[in-house]
Amino acid sequence: MAVSPLLWTLFLFSVIFSIQSYSEEEEDTPITRFQQYLRFNTAHPNPNYTAPISFLLDQARSIGLTSRTIEFVHGKPVLLLTWLGSNLNLPSILFNSHLDSVPAESEKWIHPPFSAQRTVDGHIYARGAQDDKCIGVQYLEAIRNLKSRGFVPLRTIHISYVPEEEIGGFDGMMKFAASLEFRELNLGFVMDEGQASPGDEFRVFYAERTPWHLVIRAEGIPGHGAKLYDNSAMENLMKSVELISKFRETQFDLVKAGKAANSEVISVNPAYLKAGTPSTTGFVMNMQPSEAEVGYDIRLPPMADPVAMKKRIAEEWAPSIRNMTYTIEEKGKLADQLGRPIMTLTNGSNPWWSIFKQAIEATGGKLAKPEILISSTDSRFIRTLGIPVLGFSPMINTPILVHDHNEFLKDTVFMKGIGVYESVISALSSFEGISDQVI
Ligand SMILES: *[C@@H]1O[C@H](CO)[C@@H](O)[C@H](O)[C@H]1NC(C)=O
Ligand SMILES: *[C@@H]1O[C@H](CO)[C@@H](O)[C@H](O)[C@H]1NC(C)=O
Ligand SMILES: *[C@@H]1O[C@H](CO)[C@@H](O)[C@H](O)[C@H]1NC(C)=O
Ligand SMILES: [Zn+2]
Repeated sequence: MAVSPLLWTLFLFSVIFSIQSYSEEEEDTPITRFQQYLRFNTAHPNPNYTAPISFLLDQARSIGLTSRTIEFVHGKPVLLLTWLGSNLNLPSILFNSHLDSVPAESEKWIHPPFSAQRTVDGHIYARGAQDDKCIGVQYLEAIRNLKSRGFVPLRTIHISYVPEEEIGGFDGMMKFAASLEFRELNLGFVMDEGQASPGDEFRVFYAERTPWHLVIRAEGIPGHGAKLYDNSAMENLMKSVELISKFRETQFDLVKAGKAANSEVISVNPAYLKAGTPSTTGFVMNMQPSEAEVGYDIRLPPMADPVAMKKRIAEEWAPSIRNMTYTIEEKGKLADQLGRPIMTLTNGSNPWWSIFKQAIEATGGKLAKPEILISSTDSRFIRTLGIPVLGFSPMINTPILVHDHNEFLKDTVFMKGIGVYESVISALSSFEGISDQVI
């Protein structure tokens, strides 16, 4: 029986196709290892860290790194991988990333968020592709390459994978940084996640802003809705709201005039207003209430003066002479143990900075002006200890898609990042220190 040319062609196609998909599945490359890591669903609210940790442990074994898993909170492990240096007396360096990610609304994605699909143009789509599973794999691939070239670090290199960063890090890095295990690492310098850059200069972050939650309450004489009188709770609260809005404007004007970046000013944004006397249809309209409350999200850059800010709040925004009270919930510190602002120097006073910068330039890369991160990461727990930390994720010519739908990273960008870390890791771990001073 003659086989029709059409059927024959279809048969050939299916053979070629199956060979191709077979080889793609079987391939074990930095890209497929990145895809494998991205396929573990570690999104909140129920991240399961078991499978990704065992994947990372396999990787560590294949590279020849020692490992330790520490559980400060049950079910929330911290994984620590180590490559011993030749001089154990020198402070070590740490490369950190987090295991978890924010949730993804699958129906709003063009590819399923945990499929790590790679398109023909090289985009790898996955929740966590930029934030921050890329660096978690790049650290390992860079070390794999350095080891295969026979590189021997002078300083010990640690890599940490921590849980719960996206929900504040309280059961992750906060507990790790406060632990004896962390202190025993004797860290001199740390690198943590940064952000993508749409342009062709790498972004680097040397500090973060500290959130304060400010709640202001006003109490005053209640009265008829028709009456004009002084010192009602609402009137007193509105006075404060106006003053706060003016302050917000002075800060925002600096940004609009190009004098400061958004993350370099004190932001003050209203989060809620609570007032009124509820009725069955809404609110009682012919009554001026005796209580009113407003909540603000405030973010202070490290150079802000917290004492001056508190004075402003106490004397202008919530003065007791206007029957106002307030609470400030400080979500972090502005100064470290020695009273210095919590920021990592990015000038000649910090030798780690110079080494990092040179290592980037050695790869042909350029660094943008160092920035303060607009939000916060686990770096804050480490900077608070007085240890210098730079936030850095080597992604240039990449749209910023953290926490967005259709988060992706291009394969070529991912691969170039491995080379960048080879340069950075080898340079930092070779730093001998300055004269007899151990930094
Ligand atoms: C997490 O995943 C592992 C398998 O990878 C499973 O054995 C375990 O029960 C899961 N844990 C929870 C709390 O769902
Ligand atoms: C403060 O509240 C009390 C009680 O409501 C009231 O008598 C007084 O006039 C208020 N003072 C001011 C300045 O609002
Ligand atoms: C680096 O910056 C810090 C803080 O602004 C400053 O105190 C120090 O003098 C600077 N060092 C150099 C070498 O410019
Ligand atoms: Zn992140």
